Amino acid sequence: MNPHAAVSVRQSRWVPAAALLLAMTTSCTGSASGNGAAAAFKPGAAGVGDRLFPALGNGGYDVAHYGLTLDYVPETNRLKGTAVITARATQDLSRFNLDLSGLRVRRATVQGATARYTREKDELQVTPAKPVEEGDTFRTVVTYDGTPRTIEDDDGSLEGWIETDDGSTALGQPAGSMTWFPGNHHPSDKATYDITVTVPKDADGDPYDVVSNGELTTEEDNGETVTRHWRTEEPMAGYLAQLAVGYFEVHKGRTDDDLPVYVAVDPDESENAADVKELVPEIVGWASDRFGPYPFSSTGAVVDHVPELGYALETQTKPYFDEAPDETLLVHELAHQWFGNSVTPRQWKDIWLSEGMATYAEWLWEEERGGRKTDEIFEDFYDGKDSESEGIWAFPPADPPSAARVSDPPVYGRGAMVVHKVREAVGDGTFFDILRTWTRQHRHGNADTGQFIALCEGKSGKDLTNLFDVWLFDKKKP
Ligand code: TRP
Ligand code: ZN
Repeated sequence: MNPHAAVSVRQSRWVPAAALLLAMTTSCTGSASGNGAAAAFKPGAAGVGDRLFPALGNGGYDVAHYGLTLDYVPETNRLKGTAVITARATQDLSRFNLDLSGLRVRRATVQGATARYTREKDELQVTPAKPVEEGDTFRTVVTYDGTPRTIEDDDGSLEGWIETDDGSTALGQPAGSMTWFPGNHHPSDKATYDITVTVPKDADGDPYDVVSNGELTTEEDNGETVTRHWRTEEPMAGYLAQLAVGYFEVHKGRTDDDLPVYVAVDPDESENAADVKELVPEIVGWASDRFGPYPFSSTGAVVDHVPELGYALETQTKPYFDEAPDETLLVHELAHQWFGNSVTPRQWKDIWLSEGMATYAEWLWEEERGGRKTDEIFEDFYDGKDSESEGIWAFPPADPPSAARVSDPPVYGRGAMVVHKVREAVGDGTFFDILRTWTRQHRHGNADTGQFIALCEGKSGKDLTNLFDVWLFDKKKP
């Protein structure tokens, strides 16, 4: 999905180099139809050109919608899926790639006609029977099955499809969503989703629960199985897609703004997570007052019981927790709904815009709840007195040196320090105006570091070059 003109300008800026290279090596085989006109049709690039994740995402098209119909059996950890991907071609396409890791593809069609496909590493390459013209909206259907993979990232953390003691969870940051559905899995291509999942009833006849992003639209009892349909109406980056299968206690409510709240809690965590159902609406209300209107049509949380996972994720509308979260972590993941989920980093190197802001939200919450003042937290980070400040000087926040380090402390702690420095420089009135303008201008889109700097300078009328050079870009500790 590409709601803002700026996004397509950006794509045409970084796709060509890779696309050209591919076209040169494949032009003689690129045409499936064999007619003369197809000579101008070229393969879509195998990546969008992300500096840290070169193979992530794909060029030549822009996905508008994913319709995923899945069948999952927890006992065997087998998944069967059909992905219906509706996309618009951004070039004349002889063929295109989807990101997919593991699983077996049984069939692919484009516009209803059987398509040829090949697989290499995490790329599924699809050659439609008839090339797709630039500007056309086309529908690709991929049927697949298998045991979905768990990915171990360079930093040792697990993502992708993860089995739990009572089911499974799917987590996609930065690349894990390709383990359970094919797609354009770079954050720059956001889309809406319908996720429909059928799971069996267990030996006692109790159905497994299925929790995903957005709103539950239908629930069906098929006798031996149940089917749940979740809909995400607002654009979502692939890394924020979530699916949790297991047993959950569900708490439904409403925020003061009448937003539906859906909190799913693993029974093993129900005691420790007792306050989550009240805290979610409270924090969402608090954050809306500071960051602008809540961007999605529902909110909530999934509190699972997978303590060995060791992290939480800001999955869209319902952040996912591997165990009962404390208040600070809830604030962090809910703040991501504005910073990261609605306004999504354009490339992975821009992730400080997401993590720095979510961390700064923690500071604001602490200050307003009678804890340390944000100035003091800043000093504690600078002096190394805050436990979260460990490792924050390893690299400048806007420039993670490798994919393995996109979730390292500088992006969080020093990122929040940059935000605090901006607040100091422009004053509270302008600072909160900047945050609200940011979430309004880039709502449901992508944004980058240059745009943030330009907004800060535009709103304050100040030249902030030195501030950003020193705090955001310089390798040294300021
Ligand atoms: N984004 C998560 C958070 O801040 C943390 C996280 C989990 C993460 N997995 C990641 C960050 C992979 C970057 C990459 O709560
Ligand atoms: Zn975060």
